[in-house]
Amino acid sequence: MNKTIGLEIKGCIFDMDGVIVDTAHYHYLSWRKLTADWSYQITPEANESLKGVSRMESLEIILELAGVTKSDSEKADLCAKKNEWYRESICAMTADDTLPGVLPFIEQLKSAGLKVALGSASKNAKHILALMGLTDLFDGLVDGNDLTRSKPDPQVFLLAAEAMELSPSHCLVIEDAAKGIEAASAAGMRSVGIGEVEYLHAADLVLPSTALLSWSMIQSHFLKNERTAS
Ligand code: G6P
Ligand code: MG
Repeated sequence: MNKTIGLEIKGCIFDMDGVIVDTAHYHYLSWRKLTADWSYQITPEANESLKGVSRMESLEIILELAGVTKSDSEKADLCAKKNEWYRESICAMTADDTLPGVLPFIEQLKSAGLKVALGSASKNAKHILALMGLTDLFDGLVDGNDLTRSKPDPQVFLLAAEAMELSPSHCLVIEDAAKGIEAASAAGMRSVGIGEVEYLHAADLVLPSTALLSWSMIQSHFLKNERTAS
């Protein structure tokens, strides 16, 4: 490959929970509340495997880890209860809750002529963006309501690329979930992981915090790597 990422990347797809806003933490707290009177308690490690996964699939993973069996209607009730608690915890969110550095980064991307899209597995993601007054920042919006398959399936990112009218190879994904990084690779996209290298080592670049997001830094990182590889 002899083009630079600056020339190749024309759009950036943002995961929501744990990238735009710290809702990943509220998902975790709501699942913990749901399992509070079970003998099994979700650990932060187990929570990593829930990131990027739909509500029902997350419950299935938790039931499996807990060794608990539930009927389909009980599962539906448990998901509804978890979502009710989750919605209560996020109902007062405003633009001030955007994770550090995200809004300036989106501004940098837009000034550089890039498009931006949302690519989230959450059925609450568009609602949260609206609550925060951020919807209009995005050229394309894809959330859990548009999906039939969870990350690591690339469906979410392929739809987001389509919404921006860009080819997948021109898109960069910003993600905090290992399954999201896998989904980005499966979509033929580059990725920046937000969080710990331990979980996100498959990303092209890992940053410990959104506060470090910078378009010029990302471009020089990829440029340097391409020079080293050639
Ligand atoms: C994202 C989060 C998951 C969450 C899923 C479904 O992928 O990373 O933790 O379970 O969305 O969210 P929802 O708001 O639809 O329950
Ligand atoms: Mg996430």
